Amino acid sequence: MSAFVYTNGQLGAEGVALAEVAANYGTPCYVYSRAEIEQRWNAFNAAFAGQAHLLCYAVKANSNIAVLNVLARLGSGFDIVSVGELERVIRSGGDPAKVVFSGVGKRRDEMQEALKAGIKCFNVESVAELEHLNLIAAGSSLQAPVSLRVNPDVDVDTHPYIATGLKENKFGIPYEDALSVYQIAAGMRHINVIGIDCHIGSQITVMEPFINALERLQQLISSIEENGISIRHVDIGGGLGINYKNETPPTAIDYVKSVQQIFSGGPYEIIIEPGRSIMGNAGVLLTRVESLKRTSHKNFAIVDAAMNDLLRPALYDAWHDILPVYKQAPGQGEVFDVVGPVCETADFLGKDRTLALTEGDLLAVCSAGAYGFCMSSTYNSRPRASEVMIDKGRMFEIRKRETLDDLMMGETLLPDV
Ligand code: LLP
Repeated sequence: MSAFVYTNGQLGAEGVALAEVAANYGTPCYVYSRAEIEQRWNAFNAAFAGQAHLLCYAVKANSNIAVLNVLARLGSGFDIVSVGELERVIRSGGDPAKVVFSGVGKRRDEMQEALKAGIKCFNVESVAELEHLNLIAAGSSLQAPVSLRVNPDVDVDTHPYIATGLKENKFGIPYEDALSVYQIAAGMRHINVIGIDCHIGSQITVMEPFINALERLQQLISSIEENGISIRHVDIGGGLGINYKNETPPTAIDYVKSVQQIFSGGPYEIIIEPGRSIMGNAGVLLTRVESLKRTSHKNFAIVDAAMNDLLRPALYDAWHDILPVYKQAPGQGEVFDVVGPVCETADFLGKDRTLALTEGDLLAVCSAGAYGFCMSSTYNSRPRASEVMIDKGRMFEIRKRETLDDLMMGETLLPDV
């Protein structure tokens, strides 16, 4: 399900046609639906009803401040991985007391800033990080609230680049070391152990790996508590997948129910860090066909968006549905590879798509709301796309298309000698 549907033959959301967005703001352009974002966040939140919980939206999935502001207004917490993301949360009206700080390589100055801002918790991934944090907190006569991110060593069926819960991955504290690291943390004067954390990967579309990981976490909690260390919250990370092609991921309700069953033994606050499942299907990348190139071997539709705008197909061989903005009878047309102008063979948005196309046609690359714009770059000196939010039948440009001046901002020529 997505917010973007055909009405009278035209693709759009909340009563706004994508063709109108393109006419106003040009292409390539990311387009989001506020109603869809809210609906997905509310579904998660409602699924937890009656249980102490906090939804910490994973800012990395889409960090536009208008998106963060929409979520902050709902009362969302945030999962950050840098001081840049902390600043975005604060500028968009988010509450630092609802922020958890994840990431395997927090710099000392980032720890300092986050402590000063009064965040809810640091998700710590190593003894070295604990030592740095303890010293920094001591310098400010504070105690740093900490969860340890445990690597439960479970396999997940997702692209290897987005699996994080195996012991060969750089993430988390190895399961078998976790208890002793908890004991080290509990002995540090400026560390306040409050929780446990794990995150096993992204775009996971079945419950089993989550259940395996969380059951292992539950066993670990028992031994931690037997050692006199009390756990107030369990942060189960993000990772719930979405439908890109024909996946059938668990619903928010099924997911939350399983989690609650596993942790029914304790009065824990459950923290969840969803990114993709909030934003993925709340956005599309709107692009225009520049030209068609037919060879004896293949047809190419060359569009004005490229791998610098949406990296997922090139990086993960990811599938994104590509829909014509003006509805066509399904299966009509020719088979095209939809490609961008970047000088890389990996520069494709979709391969072997059946579409009836002429120059100037508009296409929507679907499920692009998460890990779309935020992973974009200016490779090939292509200014980054604009972003538009549809809200109650109106459209708002929430990030302007970059200009050539933006592109070279901060660069200087060498002086004459
Ligand atoms: N929490 C932590 C600690 C994470 O590392 C991530 C994602 C999340 C939460 C959110 O996971 P989600 O609910 O979105 O699955 N660029 C890749 C995805 C990378 C995910 C990295 N970590 C992609 O485009 O598929």
